[in-house]
Amino acid sequence: MDHYGVIGNPIQHSKSPEIFKLFANQTQQLLIYERILVEKESLEAELSKLKTRHFKGVNVTLPFKQQAFALMDTVSERAKQAQAVNTITLNPDGTLSGDNTDGIGFIRDLTRNHRFDIRGKKVLLLGAGGAIRGVMPAILNEEPAAMTIANRTAEKAIALAKSFSGNIQACGLSALNTQKFDLVVNGTSASLHAEDLALPDGLFNAGACSYDMVYGKGQTPYLQWSEQQGAKVVVDGSGMLIEQAAESFYLWRGTRPVTQGICEVIA
Ligand SMILES: NC(=O)c1ccc[n+]([C@@H]2O[C@H](COP(=O)([O-])OP(=O)(O)OC[C@H]3O[C@@H](n4cnc5c(N)ncnc54)[C@H](OP(=O)(O)O)[C@@H]3O)[C@@H](O)[C@H]2O)c1
Repeated sequence: MDHYGVIGNPIQHSKSPEIFKLFANQTQQLLIYERILVEKESLEAELSKLKTRHFKGVNVTLPFKQQAFALMDTVSERAKQAQAVNTITLNPDGTLSGDNTDGIGFIRDLTRNHRFDIRGKKVLLLGAGGAIRGVMPAILNEEPAAMTIANRTAEKAIALAKSFSGNIQACGLSALNTQKFDLVVNGTSASLHAEDLALPDGLFNAGACSYDMVYGKGQTPYLQWSEQQGAKVVVDGSGMLIEQAAESFYLWRGTRPVTQGICEVIA
């Protein structure tokens, strides 16, 4: 039986094993997928260990995506753009190939599952870590009218904006006072730590969508705040999680699972 898994720290909360089990049953594939807790300094050693255990592939989550990028023998174009890897293929010759399916997962969830069109819209990205970097190339491909990155540490947002071409504004969270947006994406880990994002009132244009990449039981504090602020569509990160997993499954197994209905099963 082929072996796969997800590497992270922490990892116990990950729903990826349940999602891959559903995909495998649906497509009649025989595989094992497990959670792998890795200590912060041990990613390279863990990947070597997985080679000896004949793993075929692993997903990578917080906080290893950028570190994994640096350890690959080859990377896809979308991983190169994101400078981060969330899907590793362990090749039979011992080499490692890295890809990033977060961007396509986000776009499929937003545009196909929630029917929100990014083209011509004003987009605000909150955060400047691996998650935002991962989805930025895919959002830019959809040709928004304008993009702003706002981060608690403004310098990181400015550096991230500079690493992409195009008209991208960058600032600290506190500088967001008079602007309005059609799509606001929370890619900070504030919700994970149950911390409030200090955001100004009036961020949303009429009909706006608010998207939190974080997911969990019930609505996140950021999405509750978004509803109170008048966002029309509020979406958490569970659909993105499923869509990025489906793309990883396709890369490894060559068959695309149906993602409709999975959200309800794993909730
Ligand atoms: N649904 C999915 O499939 C999916 C995929 C990828 C990621 N995610 C989620 O996205 C989140 C971010 O992941 P990441 O890999 O980008 O993490 P990361 O690289 O550690 O970045 C964290 C970001 O959050 C900001 N931040 C943290 N606490 C904050 C607070 N209290 N107030 C304001 N900003 C705060 C940080 O700002 P500073 O720069 O100022 O520290 C930084 O920009 C995680 O919760 C992760 O679970 C979900």
